[in-house]
Amino acid sequence: MATDVHRTVSTTSRAQAVHVEGLSRSFDGRAVIDGLRLDVRPGEFVALLGRSGCGKSTLLRILAGLDRDIEGTVLVPRRKAVAFQAPRLMPWKKVWRNVVLGLPGKPQRALAERALAEVGLGGRATAWPRTLSGGEAQRASLARALVREPDLLLLDEPFGALDALTRIKAQRLVGELWQRRGCAVLLVTHDVEEAVLLADRVLVMDDGVIAHEQPVDLERPRDLTDPRFARLRARLLQRLGVDPTAEEA
Ligand SMILES: Nc1ncnc2c1ncn2[C@@H]1O[C@H](COP(=O)(O)OP(=O)(O)O)[C@@H](O)[C@H]1O
Ligand SMILES: [Mg+2]
Repeated sequence: MATDVHRTVSTTSRAQAVHVEGLSRSFDGRAVIDGLRLDVRPGEFVALLGRSGCGKSTLLRILAGLDRDIEGTVLVPRRKAVAFQAPRLMPWKKVWRNVVLGLPGKPQRALAERALAEVGLGGRATAWPRTLSGGEAQRASLARALVREPDLLLLDEPFGALDALTRIKAQRLVGELWQRRGCAVLLVTHDVEEAVLLADRVLVMDDGVIAHEQPVDLERPRDLTDPRFARLRARLLQRLGVDPTAEEA
């Protein structure tokens, strides 16, 4: 039986931001994650694809330290932050208070305002969450992650609920934040195009493990009309069991 280890590591002292080995997680006797291995380099942007229900969110929650009922080894940085598909803002707290919610010590408004400015919400610090649009709420949720100065940013389908245009803007923002901050990112998405657009490496999860891995060696900013982009996209769709030609039809 594997030893259960969930430890935090300093990324500066390690070659990896994330090191996962022999990770298993079962629900009611059914293994959703089954001997998974994963390494993420400091500063690397990794996208994680996989059919619905294959265990992506389960893996992300484990990396975030929200689920410790595991077998195997999980090494992650102490400074990590997570943003989910739903922004999860407390409606009775102003935006800036949501951003610093849970931080130790006295809530610092200036800190929140800096993070909000970084996501383009500089003027909304004292707004109530219900007055934000979907895209703004999602950006506030990103600010809440950034204010933690993470070495590892975990994103679980953060653009899933946004309309197409807002989604493109949010994707661009995440790309910029990543380049500026230099943190490692693990982005769970069901959107192959988004994965190829943003990631250094795209992983496909299946049967409880990382079943496929695809480096994306395209210069940034990426060009969706580049034939190499289309080839990568088609290959990944195939790995996901989607016929790329049928999808275009
Ligand atoms: N707390 C839980 N209790 C029981 N089953 C769960 C729990 N969380 C996740 N599962 C199951 O684990 C599987 C993987 O779920 P999830 O990680 O959310 O998939 P994904 O994010 O890839 O869509 C699903 O079958 C889901 O029903
Ligand atoms: Mg999920």
